[in-house]
Amino acid sequence: MPGFPKKRMRRLRSTETLRNMLAEVTLSRRQLIAPLFVREGKNLRREIPSMGGQYQLSVDTAMETARRWADKGIPAVLLFGIPDVKDPVGSGAWDANAATQRLARQIKDTIPEMLVITDVCLCEYTDHGHCGPIYTRPDGQMDVDNDASLELLARTAVSHAEAGADMVAPSAMMDGQVAAIRDGLDGAGFQTTSIMSYAVKFASSLYGPFRDAAESSPQSGDRRSYQMDYRSSRQAVLEAQADIDEGADILMVKPAEAYLDLIAEVRRLFSVPLAAYHVSGEYAMIKAAAQAGWLDERGAAIEITTAIKRAGADLIITYFAEQLADWLET
Ligand code: PBG
Ligand code: ZN
Repeated sequence: MPGFPKKRMRRLRSTETLRNMLAEVTLSRRQLIAPLFVREGKNLRREIPSMGGQYQLSVDTAMETARRWADKGIPAVLLFGIPDVKDPVGSGAWDANAATQRLARQIKDTIPEMLVITDVCLCEYTDHGHCGPIYTRPDGQMDVDNDASLELLARTAVSHAEAGADMVAPSAMMDGQVAAIRDGLDGAGFQTTSIMSYAVKFASSLYGPFRDAAESSPQSGDRRSYQMDYRSSRQAVLEAQADIDEGADILMVKPAEAYLDLIAEVRRLFSVPLAAYHVSGEYAMIKAAAQAGWLDERGAAIEITTAIKRAGADLIITYFAEQLADWLET
């Protein structure tokens, strides 16, 4: 093929300076959200066995961690609370003095610039481990009570806002939860508290380590009646549209790495900001392989997080947040 610029690709890659100039995505700590598990107690720092480098912390040690993250330029945290006592409806979730609420209050008091996002769900607080109260259907099957969950989720979101949360992140996947929470927040005067909705959340094996961390495994059954089926993607579009209509400010796709097609699709179809959650199992796989010496942790973590951004995520929720902040220049 004479005359054809057959070496163009090699020339475009030939120097590091040019590669850097042409990079379409640059990962920055400014887009990262760090999950944080907070539990009752004092001076606790329990490493989560399936998630090396991640801890269950009490409010005091969580404050030290939040301070360290803020100093490293991590702009936002996503709080998950772990109660001492659970009950059938998950009433610990809206307790004004529970660990999540106390931590949110302390972070906003001492590190006001840090964006505090709270996970709004009941599975850590229910004794059966489902994301809402359960009931027996007329056909005898047990199921999550969608409509009864809504009021409880709204109450939980309001209690987080009262504690100072800037943004709430409902993850229970109940139909109508965004509208119910928006109503609840507005009614309580929190018109500017925003909602980041886990709109596109699949029933996934990749949440396994998180359920150890948050002590939130369902005692029986699974979450397939309320989380999405990974064999279908069109429903993701419906979920995203519904949440926008109900008042979601930011949408989320979760998991992230295995669902890059959906990140790209939601990005293409909707103009609201988009977050992606690189979940516990995706983190654990890299950690475990790195620990065995089978792959380079830093290279893999940066590559995969960059891919999530390249697919279209504006914000990335990742357990690698602190390490990325150590590794990245910006
Ligand atoms: C609770 C919730 C889960 C995750 C975030 N919020 C678990 C689940 O739905 O079972 C998973 C996060 C992760 O795996 O890192 N609704
Ligand atoms: Zn849940």
